[in-house]
Amino acid sequence: MTSQTLTLAALVGSLRTASVNRWVLDTAADMTPEITWNRVDLRDVPLYNQDVEDTGAPESVQRMRDAVSAADGLVVFTPEYNWSVPGVTKNAIDWLSRPFGESSLVGKPVGIVAATPGRSGGEQVRRHLSESVAVLSDRFFPTTLGVASINHVTEDGFVTDPETLGLLRDWLDGFTSHIQAP
Ligand code: FNR
Repeated sequence: MTSQTLTLAALVGSLRTASVNRWVLDTAADMTPEITWNRVDLRDVPLYNQDVEDTGAPESVQRMRDAVSAADGLVVFTPEYNWSVPGVTKNAIDWLSRPFGESSLVGKPVGIVAATPGRSGGEQVRRHLSESVAVLSDRFFPTTLGVASINHVTEDGFVTDPETLGLLRDWLDGFTSHIQAP
């Protein structure tokens, strides 16, 4: 595997159109043309229900699992809600962790990025989600990225602040090195 062939699956734990987390994903994809970013659409993913799972995963869930399984790594871009993990993000992780014994996250490098308009950079959601994902993936990347005070974007929704771009670039370099480490 080389950086030329790297494919990353990306989840955005926000369904709204003007999501700052989606802006950060778009900016990350824009600055890494050597990476294929496979965005997973969470809009049609239902709330986790084991009864539904037992009769066969819904198509949207299977698409998500296939995208994650086929990728070299998964990056979760998530908001922070009430000092913790939003339901949309956690629901995606819960589906990915099942069926028991067939989790798409085992052996999968997983990175966490949290973007907030405020100054916290989602410190609490990164901590809480790390605790969960570290149990699910033996290749979890423990260095999370908090992107704070997202306010300056282009009309197309690309982050422009040079300091933020630098932090994002450094984190992506760290995550891809983590993926490529033996
Ligand atoms: C928030 N927001 C928020 N921000 C934060 O830094 N810490 C928090 O605990 C919370 N809590 C919270 C709860 C709920 C229910 C909402 C709707 C919002 C603000 C949040 O960071 C802001 O709405 C972001 O813009 C959400 O991310 P997206 O949707 O823009 O990606």
